Amino acid sequence: MLVLSMNPKQKYGPTALVTGASSGIGEAFARELAEAGFRVILVARRTDLLDKLAHDIESIPGAEALVISADLGKTEDVDRLLEAVESEEIGLFVSSAGFGSSGPFETLSVDSEVDMVRVNCEATVQLTHAIGSKMLHRKRGGVVLIASLLGWQGVPGTATYSATKGFVQCFAEALHTEWKPGGVDVISCAPGPVLSQFDSRANMTISNGVTPETVARQTLAALGKRTTVIPGALSKFLSFALLHCPRALRVAILKKVMDGLTNYGKPHTGR
Ligand SMILES: NC(=O)c1ccc[n+]([C@@H]2O[C@H](COP(=O)([O-])OP(=O)(O)OC[C@H]3O[C@@H](n4cnc5c(N)ncnc54)[C@H](OP(=O)(O)O)[C@@H]3O)[C@@H](O)[C@H]2O)c1
Repeated sequence: MLVLSMNPKQKYGPTALVTGASSGIGEAFARELAEAGFRVILVARRTDLLDKLAHDIESIPGAEALVISADLGKTEDVDRLLEAVESEEIGLFVSSAGFGSSGPFETLSVDSEVDMVRVNCEATVQLTHAIGSKMLHRKRGGVVLIASLLGWQGVPGTATYSATKGFVQCFAEALHTEWKPGGVDVISCAPGPVLSQFDSRANMTISNGVTPETVARQTLAALGKRTTVIPGALSKFLSFALLHCPRALRVAILKKVMDGLTNYGKPHTGR
């Protein structure tokens, strides 16, 4: 259950839009926010999963969910999404849609790497601009941008992904300060490993990590209080230790970490 000092629906407004709501962290945010009384708009590509989530949410007395299918790697879908929510009073925006990849950069599909920049960065910018501007006009709102510990430095073996998350981290930090006086809370959520569908799409195996529910709860509890939240005790410790290392050493350490996580060049486990 969501723990905030003030009722978040009263603080931010009636409706929450969550991208990446079909699984993992986005799904956990959608469930938490519906429990907290928000009307939730669920966005991703897999409509069957969104419909199932909407059905679950609507079994909560008084809860309401709207499903919008969109491929955020396509500008026309982002435009269509924004048109569809034009008349909505979105008080909370959670940008969780995203994906990664692993392996030597030159071996990866360039189309997929460019799509990653579009989903993780471009769509985040476009949606935050449109939704956040209206929040500023109303002088209230909350924006949650999902970054990653991998975004604190370049990470060999997941070069494009770490760069996209570095982008999100800088973007969120800057907007946190820009929009605070306008009544809009912006937070970067920078998790370490999370147990979700992320690893299979990124050709990695993550067997130890926090749950998406932990990420959603700790982030919502920190929204309005902090610039960045790092969910989970182990990730907090790791980031504290890493941030005290010279940047080149961090890159070397993270290379070792990625060598352990990626399935690239390893025998197929049948997972
Ligand atoms: N899991 C981790 O270890 C970890 C750590 C740090 C940060 N993160 C970040 O957390 C966020 C959520 O990831 P997760 O762990 O929850 O992984 P996940 O379970 O794979 O969820 C990713 C979500 O993004 C959506 N998505 C992907 N591509 C999309 C596209 N082109 N258009 C619209 N939606 C798209 C997926 O929906 P559809 O496939 O249905 O479109 C899904 O709902 C991502 O930004 C990820 O980079 C994850």
